[in-house]
Order: sequence, then C-alpha cells, then structure tokens
Amino acid sequence: MSTSASQLSADPVFDRCWWIYSLCRERLFADHTDTIASALQPLLGSRLNIQLLEVGCGPGFYSRRLAARFPAVQALGVDTSERLLCHARQQAQRAKLPNCCFRHGDAQHLGDFLDVADAAIASRLFLILLHVQREAVMQAVFRTLRPGGIFFIAEPISPLRTSLPLWLMRAADRIAGRPACLSVPVECAVLSGAELQTLAHGQPWGEVQLWRDRRYQYALCQKAL
Ligand SMILES: C[S@@+](CC[C@H](N)C(=O)[O-])C[C@H]1O[C@@H](n2cnc3c(N)ncnc32)[C@H](O)[C@@H]1O
Repeated sequence: MSTSASQLSADPVFDRCWWIYSLCRERLFADHTDTIASALQPLLGSRLNIQLLEVGCGPGFYSRRLAARFPAVQALGVDTSERLLCHARQQAQRAKLPNCCFRHGDAQHLGDFLDVADAAIASRLFLILLHVQREAVMQAVFRTLRPGGIFFIAEPISPLRTSLPLWLMRAADRIAGRPACLSVPVECAVLSGAELQTLAHGQPWGEVQLWRDRRYQYALCQKAL
C-alpha cells in the first residue's frame, strides 16, 4: 500500500458533499443523545467540568446536543472535513453554545491538539476507516482519556442503509462532474459484532460493555481508575 493511513482517512466526498451528509445526520439517522447522556451521568456527578471529545464529529451533532444539555460539558469535535466543521461551528454559534468548539484534525493523532479528555464519542466513524486506522483511533482515544474516562461507540449494522449517504454523496459528485476519489473505499465496511468486540478489547480498558439493537451496535469502554 503506497498511500499513508492519514492520507486515506480524509475522504474528500465528506467535504464536497457536506450538505448531503449533514442532512442525513440531522433527519435520517438515529439519535443516541439520551444513551450517551446516561453514560456521562456518573462523570457529571464527580467533576465540575467535563472535557468531551467527539472523534469524526462530521456536523457536530452530538457535541452540540450534549453541550446544550450540559453546561458543565466542554465539547470538542474533531474531523478531517473543513466544510462539515464549518457547518458545525455555524450551528453551534446559532444555538449560542460557548462550550462547544470544533477542530480540524485526524482522530488517529489526538495528541497533536488535546492533552486529556474525560469522555469520548465515535458515532458512525469506524465503518469508513481501514482496519489499521480503527486501531490507531482506539489507541489515540485510550491515551487521551483520563483514568475513569469513558468512550462511547455507536456503529450501524445494516450495510444497505449505511451505504445510502455515501452513495448519495458519490452520485452528487458524479453529477457535478467531479472525478471519483480512488484512494477511498466506495462501500462502507460495516463492522461485524466480532469485529467491534475485537476492536473494543484491543486496549487495556478497565471495563467494556457491548450491546446492540435493531439498527446499531454499541461499545462503552471505561478506563480503569
Ligand atoms: C460517517 S461520518 C460520521 C459523522 C458523525 N460522527 C455522525 O454521527 O454522523 C464520518 C466522519 O469522519 C470523518 N473522518 C474520517 N476519517 C477521519 C479521521 N481520521 N479523523 C477525523 N475524522 C475523520 C469524516 O470527515 C466524516 O465527517
């Protein structure tokens, strides 16, 4: 493989067709804010401020929702798409959320811009990453979290439904006469239950919970105190 993992991680279609993804995120996808909020509750009781990191945040859906719900949360969304980040910032500004900000960056190299976090979220991120990138993100998040910190992961399980936004974005790209990006996979690599389990247990967490419903599978990993 000649292209580096960090080059591969930046799929330009999320930048060029940001509005399609954003629309899907706001209108179509399931909202797991309540589940994440429940996972955050024990941390909220024990600290005055919670540094929350959303990796591959896209339009910053969860960063904005959780910052709005919990003033003690300082949310930082990180993504490789400048345009999705720009949209996220505008939405946060419109909603008057001073405790929510967004940075351009690679989730595999979190140490470049964040020392420590209390909690992290990755929603629908691993399905668009290569195997080696998934492990690098897990490792980066593990290193960034404080002892006792939690990492919530939500991954969809239907390949057909999951691929829909990507197909729409690629079709819009084609209609606009833009060449397909050959360095990124066209299909979403939906994780099997076993793959999520292996990924979640790849770091020395104190505790890992795995569960699924009809449309998503989840992992909640907690670093030992
Ligand atoms: C399928 S979207 C998920 C967006 C959002 N988390 C959600 O719940 O809808 C994946 C996002 O990850 C971003 N991304 C891809 N590789 C990344 C990386 N290495 N670091 C940070 N963000 C990345 C993409 O730009 C895109 O916004």
